[in-house]
Amino acid sequence: MEMTKENTLAIVYHSYGRCLANGNVIETFHKKFLSSSPEVAEKFKNTDFNRKNRLLKHGLDLMIMYSRGNFAGQASLKRIKETHSRSKLDIKAHFYQLWKTALLKTIPLHDQKYAPGIGAAWNKVLEMGIQYIKQGHCTRLNENTKIKP
Ligand code: HEM
Repeated sequence: MEMTKENTLAIVYHSYGRCLANGNVIETFHKKFLSSSPEVAEKFKNTDFNRKNRLLKHGLDLMIMYSRGNFAGQASLKRIKETHSRSKLDIKAHFYQLWKTALLKTIPLHDQKYAPGIGAAWNKVLEMGIQYIKQGHCTRLNENTKIKP
């Protein structure tokens, strides 16, 4: 099947549905993400287990909504770009790669119809939202960088 935007979104949407119906995909993601780096665990040290699970599920839902061009998804990701920026939660750019890698390792464990093309579709969809949120960290860096005339 050709990888048009519509196909990619449909592949992810169905894969996510299968994952949610097969075991606790959010808990697997939670474990993989939190153990991916001590820095990530440190960021969440004051967040209780249930809240972390809820946040991860909510965050994932928003990323999917955003990639579909959904208005609510766009508005929410704009807010997250601000809350996760350098001056607030200070989520560094490489944390998003850890987040994505943890999720890409989680999907094959819960999607019974998993195939490499499905992983590629997830990668594409997640990268759209990540590129957008990461600007919250990078923009400030650029503003602070003094360019000699
Ligand atoms: C990749 C997409 C991500 C999405 C969509 C997302 C979404 C969210 C949302 C909805 C919240 C609730 C507060 C708010 O609305 O701002 C939140 C809080 C938080 N996020 Fe993210 N997040 C993402 C990535 C990350 C990453 C990579 C980290 C790295 C450690 C992170 C760390 C946190 C922390 C520390 C909080 C606050 C927890 C608390 O309130 O106890 N997030 N996130």
